[in-house]
Amino acid sequence: MAIRTVLRMGDARLLQRAVPVSDFASLPDLLVDMRDTMKAQGGVGLAAPQIGVNLRVVIFEVEANPRYPDAEYVPETVLVNPYITPLDDKHDEGWEGCLSLPGLRGLVSRWTHIRYQGCDEYGALIDRTVSGFHARVVQHECDHLEGVLYPMQMQDMSRFGFSDLLFPNNDTQDE
Ligand code: NI
Repeated sequence: MAIRTVLRMGDARLLQRAVPVSDFASLPDLLVDMRDTMKAQGGVGLAAPQIGVNLRVVIFEVEANPRYPDAEYVPETVLVNPYITPLDDKHDEGWEGCLSLPGLRGLVSRWTHIRYQGCDEYGALIDRTVSGFHARVVQHECDHLEGVLYPMQMQDMSRFGFSDLLFPNNDTQDE
């Protein structure tokens, strides 16, 4: 299929609320493009609205990588019509990036422990209880479905900047 252009912050389509998927027949082609685009850009996640498709579909995958010892493995997941429930009030701060804000990083507070539910591309139910980086990635991707980009969740804009200046010794991945 195709590597698609990722919309960048400033494009009004990123601020729309995405609509639930009812016709699963159209998903295979969309998912091929989403996977191709995410991998080509080196991302750990992608939401359909980021390639201009206003549907409630996200994908994510964090491969084990010795350069990111804090980024635990997250299996490749397709999540359709997701729903997140925080399991307690605990939050963690962590640095995030996004393919829609290339080159930038910001410190974002997210729920530490969540349950997420939805279904895969075949309609099979997904119901997982996760924490830490896995929980962060899911919250970041699902925010895209509400038209929310991570800077809109930031509490301290002094912790927002270009990743090559914030982390001169590391390359980092985008969500
Ligand atoms: Ni993103």
